[in-house]
Amino acid sequence: MKELIEKLKINRDLSDEEMIRLLTMPTGTDESLFPNTPEAGAHPVKRLPLNLQFTDDEELLFGTADEVRRAEYGTAVYVRGLIEFTNFCKNNCYYCGIRRDDAGLTRYRLSKEDILKCAEEGYGLGYRTFVLQGGEDLYYTDQRICDIVLSLHQKYPDCAITLSIGEKSRESYEKYFKAGAERYLLRHETASEEHYRILHPAELSLSHRKQCLFDLKDIGYQVGSGFMVGTLKQTPECILSDLRFLQELAPDMIGIGPYLTHHATPFKNCCNGSLAMTLRLISILRLMFPYALIPATTALGTIHPKGREYGLSAGANVVMPNLSPTKFRKLYSLYENKICTGELSKACADCIAARAASGGYHIVTDRGDVMGH
Ligand code: 5AD
Ligand code: FES
Repeated sequence: MKELIEKLKINRDLSDEEMIRLLTMPTGTDESLFPNTPEAGAHPVKRLPLNLQFTDDEELLFGTADEVRRAEYGTAVYVRGLIEFTNFCKNNCYYCGIRRDDAGLTRYRLSKEDILKCAEEGYGLGYRTFVLQGGEDLYYTDQRICDIVLSLHQKYPDCAITLSIGEKSRESYEKYFKAGAERYLLRHETASEEHYRILHPAELSLSHRKQCLFDLKDIGYQVGSGFMVGTLKQTPECILSDLRFLQELAPDMIGIGPYLTHHATPFKNCCNGSLAMTLRLISILRLMFPYALIPATTALGTIHPKGREYGLSAGANVVMPNLSPTKFRKLYSLYENKICTGELSKACADCIAARAASGGYHIVTDRGDVMGH
């Protein structure tokens, strides 16, 4: 594996066959790397130990990714204040805990005033990037989104505004951009057509999602994409197609996290994705895209108490502390046991800073734009 890892570092790429070898090398943790596939067999619920055991090859991969990250970004960890402003969604993705058909979920929406209050709190904590994320909620018309973005932009001209509100028309994306949104997060979720069909109902399409990403890029947004790790029937070949798609898109940000189950979804009997596989992919992505902004995601922090620390040491350089009003946090339940749902924003800010410091990194609260690529 040593040669493969070195080759990936130098060429920022591997052949399909080599990539599959890296993706499928054994892990020292007790996890199944492709848990929701027939090959994985039965899945006893396993508790991961606090200090995970990785193989020498895994450690080498993480270490090489960390080297590259330090060469590009030093020990800086960028923070993005996450405002989850609506859990209404018109879509019905089979994996997602805020899908339309979950009638048992209490739905909420934040008003512009609520959102500005979250931003004010975040600004006070030093954050200079706000991410407005929500389900695909038609209540927020283009006019309402633009009004929110304009108000944020006027009040905080030194901050970057990121939207993460799903698939829209090119015209809508153009309007938001004109209003002052500069970044957009839209994970492609899976780049395999066949796998996409397993995860989504018929009315959604991979080609439209990809089109959205190319439109966003073309308009001039800094674009973030990514995928979940360990979803139902995700094979090494699926992941390979994710990596190839990301090469085609060349996004500025790449967000990945383990798939986590939710009892009120059709996938309630699936088991969680693998932490080791997620870390492996963070490292591979760092080596393929040295310049990229790669978050140690909330899902990573949920699957293991030190998940985000592991993520940072495997090549991630962004964290996204929660800025949503505490009383709504539990309701933005994409998956179960989500962390930070009882905390105040200040607690998350302190917590994140301590976690970064524990790995020898440091929080940077400027806009954290992507390095040129
Ligand atoms: N587990 C992990 N991540 C999920 N997401 C949605 N549902 C889940 C789940 N059950 C991710 C999707 C989406 C992002 C906001 O959250 O990748 O793009
Ligand atoms: Fe929210 Fe740690 S980041 S409690």
